[in-house]
Amino acid sequence: MPDWESKFINKIVLNNCLDLMREIPDGSVDLIITDPPWNVGKDYGTYKDDLSKKEYQQLIRDLKSEWDRIANGRVAIVLGSEILKDWWDVYVDAKIIIVKLGAIVLTRKNNMHLQWKAVVTTCNSNKFTTDNWEDIRWPGEGYYFDEPRYGHPAMTPLKLMGRLINLFSNENDLIFDPYMGVGTTAVAAMLLKRRYIGCEIDAKYLDTARKRIANTGLTTKEDRLDAGVPLTFEDLA
Ligand SMILES: C[S@@+](CC[C@H](N)C(=O)[O-])C[C@H]1O[C@@H](n2cnc3c(N)ncnc32)[C@H](O)[C@@H]1O
Repeated sequence: MPDWESKFINKIVLNNCLDLMREIPDGSVDLIITDPPWNVGKDYGTYKDDLSKKEYQQLIRDLKSEWDRIANGRVAIVLGSEILKDWWDVYVDAKIIIVKLGAIVLTRKNNMHLQWKAVVTTCNSNKFTTDNWEDIRWPGEGYYFDEPRYGHPAMTPLKLMGRLINLFSNENDLIFDPYMGVGTTAVAAMLLKRRYIGCEIDAKYLDTARKRIANTGLTTKEDRLDAGVPLTFEDLA
């Protein structure tokens, strides 16, 4: 097995993803799937999510250039209404899937806007899908979905990541999430029999992600309930 494979495959690495990606060879990943920081000032511990508009737009261009190289441009990126335009300006040919129309949000007096979530993807799926989102809740119904949060301020629903992985990849494919947080993409990949690489810049979230992954090995819902650990994608389906 090449060095980079034993170092990264089925692991989450503590690093800045821009540094880690330089170690991944061209065309070696089947799908980038991620819910990146949205530059809305969330406190992620190590990372503060507060770049200038120019810096954020440059980050998107840097990410795209690495993702084009390592995954032949195959991406599925979860985004909010605030920043979709910045991403779409770079991913000009991407398809946009609206996840869920949200409510009208009052950001300050006399300033209301319609909030919604999108997935930007360059992939086609040969799998039939109807409404993927009906039972996943988003802002407008309260920022709420019925899953444990593991102490992370912006966790992505496991169900959503599972569905996207299912739509845009096949068993045994290698999935890369550069912004792994508390490990949702890795857990979904394991449950769906994909290999994964993850990167996370904050040691506390990484620690939680590793515990979550270890617990995913408990084989039945009853095992998980007995061990007092959170349930999985299949338990929740
Ligand atoms: C929206 S959250 C992802 C949540 C994740 N999908 C989950 O369910 O836990 C974005 C994450 O990116 C991490 N992050 C920010 N900048 C990073 C970087 N340059 N490299 C790696 N991780 C980074 C943050 O610490 C945060 O946990």
